[in-house]
Amino acid sequence: MIRKTTILLLAFLALFSAAAQNKMTVQVNKPIADIQPTMWGIFFEDINLAADGGIYAELVKNRSFEFTKPLMGWKVQQKNFVEGAVQVVNRPEKEDTNPRYLQVLLQKASGHDLGLTNEGFRGMGVKKDITYTFSVLYRQSSPTGKLNIELVNAQNEVLGSTSLTPEVADNQWHKQSVSFKSNATDPKAKLNIWFEGDGKIDLDMISLFPSDTWKNRPGGLRADLVQLLADLKPGFIRFPGGCIVEGFDLAQRYQWKKTVGAVEDRHLIINRWNTEFSSRSTPDYFQSFGLGFFEYFQLAEDIGAEPLPILNCGMACQFNSAELVPAGQIDPYVQDALDLIEFANGSTDSKWGKLRAEMGHPAPFNLKMMGVGNENWGPQYVERLKIFTKAIKDKYPDFKLVNSSGTDPSGDRFDYLNGELRKMNADLIDEHYYRSPEWFFSNARRYDNYPRTASKVFAGEYASHCDNSFVGAARNNWKAALSEAAFMTGLERNAAVVSMASYAPLFAHLEGWQWAPDLIWYDNLHSYGTPSYYVQKLYSNNKGNKVVPITLGKDVVAGQDSIYASAVIDTKTKELIVKIVNASGNKTTKEIQLEGAPKLAKAGTLTVMQSCDMKQVNSIENPAALAPKTQPFAPKGKMIKAELAPYSFAVYRIGL
Ligand code: AHR
Repeated sequence: MIRKTTILLLAFLALFSAAAQNKMTVQVNKPIADIQPTMWGIFFEDINLAADGGIYAELVKNRSFEFTKPLMGWKVQQKNFVEGAVQVVNRPEKEDTNPRYLQVLLQKASGHDLGLTNEGFRGMGVKKDITYTFSVLYRQSSPTGKLNIELVNAQNEVLGSTSLTPEVADNQWHKQSVSFKSNATDPKAKLNIWFEGDGKIDLDMISLFPSDTWKNRPGGLRADLVQLLADLKPGFIRFPGGCIVEGFDLAQRYQWKKTVGAVEDRHLIINRWNTEFSSRSTPDYFQSFGLGFFEYFQLAEDIGAEPLPILNCGMACQFNSAELVPAGQIDPYVQDALDLIEFANGSTDSKWGKLRAEMGHPAPFNLKMMGVGNENWGPQYVERLKIFTKAIKDKYPDFKLVNSSGTDPSGDRFDYLNGELRKMNADLIDEHYYRSPEWFFSNARRYDNYPRTASKVFAGEYASHCDNSFVGAARNNWKAALSEAAFMTGLERNAAVVSMASYAPLFAHLEGWQWAPDLIWYDNLHSYGTPSYYVQKLYSNNKGNKVVPITLGKDVVAGQDSIYASAVIDTKTKELIVKIVNASGNKTTKEIQLEGAPKLAKAGTLTVMQSCDMKQVNSIENPAALAPKTQPFAPKGKMIKAELAPYSFAVYRIGL
């Protein structure tokens, strides 16, 4: 008899606890933290052909002959070989900007006697009926003839052609351009320039741009890629990296002053990702800086994101050369930081503000923050950072600084820096984590016990990395994205601590990548967002501005029964937004009681990403294979009955 009662009691308790496990509570009227407008942003680095060959729409590779091998990307076409017909000339007076140009000797050239072919970045993606602008810097002392320009496909069939006759013959450099249409779409076109005439002509900055760039800006950015960024509605854009800021050595560090002003005077350097990974070596990877700091600021403004430049702190990559500038000689580096603030915000009477105005933007860019150092660590970093911080804060007390906590989210280096930076009362501490999906799932509580006051966290680079059996774009699968979605509930829940977060890296060319996973993949004509992209988008587009508690019993929802959840209010649109991840293979139902809610709207929206295939990816052929799908849903009184599909990420949005 006693045994029977006990069994009944246990069964009742089990049922009761299962029912309790299925009930969550949102305290709609008890906001616990503000969500910063900067919360969800983007991280841009020129890695994986992100700039040249990627978002920067220039189609000609090595347009100014400054690659280590001056004719890389070019082929000289000669019917009958003439020694010295095409020569690379180096002018020492331009050593810091653009030393090399091409000198071409024409001897009654016609037809296909003498020409140049440029292969583009893994070919040139050209589109039917789109206009292309060919431009060139030339110098001649007497009229030489003309340049016959053509776009051809792999079979050498002409897709579009025109000609350009250099007009001035005064032995000075002049720029001239001509536009023409392509009559076909081709991902792998090439550019031919056939010479016609007689005499000597110097050529530099041979360029071909499509007209359908973002905002149709001449010499601008690839519109499809910028649109993907704009659709994220990012709170900030971090640029230009990443390790590229540090450089292999100090000579290769990113120097913003060399990336502004006339494009022909921007000093090309090697891209550190050219040689970083021997298995993914990319010998033709250089930085033309056609996408330079002015263009980054302009991009930030275009997509409504706060600009966040990261500057070198006097230290090269500590994994590479680990070169340091002596602390006593760091002034030029600090001056670069101060001058950048003037470039972005200064009056048009100031030296750098004037340059901004000359480049077409007299209004300030309203820069509010900057990073000092990327993944730098150790006492050497702290020593240099203190010098920067004093100089910047003395002049601009309200300016916010991002400080590095090194390469890893734990361990001695991290602990040392985290301690030092908090002692310094750092504004924002930049944490990086490239970890396994399991790490992301089990770290949803990472910030629950971080101090709520003083220094804030910038989760500046993160991505879930599946094991190495997944290569390239296959690494951007649903398992990775789902684990990020689960982890991000923890970031959102802890918006009192985390002010900013950005997935990294952002871009990858399918034929030119060095690092995977990445948020957005593309070829020369098409692009797509990965499942991780859509996770980022769901967070950013459903950001809200106040965190409210969502609990299971008294605990936050961070992995119990493989469920993760966070909730926010948007006080402007008067909506409650609940995000829930079901990381298990079971369908489950949760009842979410909305405590303290005024009247609810009769219907809201439910947006879901779901797949039972954890290897599911998107692709050029099927760019939205795994993308959010939205449907209406109706609350039951003040309760949301959440029917959570296996391996799903759901966003409920309901008017209050
Ligand atoms: O995002 C790729 C690289 O990862 C970044 O350049 C660097 O900061 C990190 O190690």
